[in-house]
Amino acid sequence: MPDALELASRKSSDSVRLILVDDDEEPHSCCYYKWSRRRKCCCCCLLLIFLPVIAFGLAFIFIAYIPIENPIPVPEWAHGPYKTTETLVEVGGMYKQSGDQDAWAFYPDHNGTFPALAFSHGDGGGGFLLHWAFSGILRIVASHGFVVLAHKSCFWPWDCGTLSHDGGPNYQWRDQARTLVWAASPPSLDDSPENRVLSRINRELPMGVFGQSTGGRTSIQAAAAASEGPSGSNYAYINGSCIAAAVAIHPDPCIGPHSNWRHGSCDRASAITKTPLAVFTSKLDTTEPAGSAQINYDAATSTNKIYASMAGVSHIKGTGPIWALYTAAWFHVYLNGQSQGDYYFNLIYGNSTKSVCGENKNEMKMDEPIEDMCYFEDFVELESYRQI
Ligand SMILES: *[C@@H]1O[C@H](CO)[C@@H](O)[C@H](O)[C@H]1NC(C)=O
Ligand SMILES: *[C@@H]1O[C@H](CO)[C@@H](O)[C@H](O)[C@H]1NC(C)=O
Ligand SMILES: *[C@@H]1O[C@H](CO)[C@@H](O)[C@H](O)[C@H]1NC(C)=O
Repeated sequence: MPDALELASRKSSDSVRLILVDDDEEPHSCCYYKWSRRRKCCCCCLLLIFLPVIAFGLAFIFIAYIPIENPIPVPEWAHGPYKTTETLVEVGGMYKQSGDQDAWAFYPDHNGTFPALAFSHGDGGGGFLLHWAFSGILRIVASHGFVVLAHKSCFWPWDCGTLSHDGGPNYQWRDQARTLVWAASPPSLDDSPENRVLSRINRELPMGVFGQSTGGRTSIQAAAAASEGPSGSNYAYINGSCIAAAVAIHPDPCIGPHSNWRHGSCDRASAITKTPLAVFTSKLDTTEPAGSAQINYDAATSTNKIYASMAGVSHIKGTGPIWALYTAAWFHVYLNGQSQGDYYFNLIYGNSTKSVCGENKNEMKMDEPIEDMCYFEDFVELESYRQI
């Protein structure tokens, strides 16, 4: 690229003006004057203008998502009993008609049928980045016996609402709900990826929503719509689905305006009056305002809710194996009806040192390899369980 280099080196001394002219006109741009290969040169000029913009975008994406180290190495203790398969499916009907209509599906490589879950990503983690950034957690959850659907849409604008951070419409949750409405439709007979996924879904069982960061907030919004049911103003977006449990991992606050906190337009946590809600976070999350995950938990009035906070994982690392295991456990209790004495029930409410909410929660230690992250420093007693 000698031209580009030369242009760059001369940029400071020569005044570079960009004037688009037809090939057969007399040259009057400095680019043409210097190199006479006008088109190439104009490309160089444009590149110089846009390079910083592109570099900034890429830097954001990589700084934000590289720490996820995907695919996350999955320790033995986090994995479920099933091998998994994954495929892209066309869901359609997303909030933005011109946007991405596809979802990644992760499901057990097994002939049984399983409850459907809809995952929603964090800011900038949709689109082509979704699989890279989140396939670790999605694969683990699916390996415990779920069909997990993750919409790719709302990559840009990140939230399906350009001003979402400061008062915009927060429509990403609708696409999360949309994947479950799709999941409720019976498969036809042809051998498409869509039908292979649909034929793995158990439509007799209820469904779940979970997500990280913005996707944690969207899960709160979806759970609120489910709690309100047919009389709620958002029912049209969930009509056909059957959302009966939610997990918000490192969620944005959704409790209305709060001084110095963003996301003031989201005020739905208090509308979660029935749907069981688990909120997982960490003290080391410096992306969300301190205390904001717990305030979502406090605002929800569901009887069945838990809040757990690890000592030391960042906002992004919160999508690691540990929360994947407890996310799966939460859904086993409330979608599959696991109860006293069952493995997943015990992971949540039992008395073992692996149980997040049991009597020994403060002794909690995992075998390997992240035991220092697994001290649960806070937990609010749940009054009763399995009363949806
Ligand atoms: C699932 O069923 C098909 C035929 O119905 C069979 O060929 C296949 O081996 C089965 N797979 C498993 C994992 O059982
Ligand atoms: C839900 O969808 C069904 C089928 O499309 C429709 O008959 C019903 O009226 C809808 N319910 C509400 C409350 O909108
Ligand atoms: C945990 O142990 C206590 C007694 O120490 C018992 O009352 C409770 O039922 C146990 N919980 C579970 C889920 O086993």
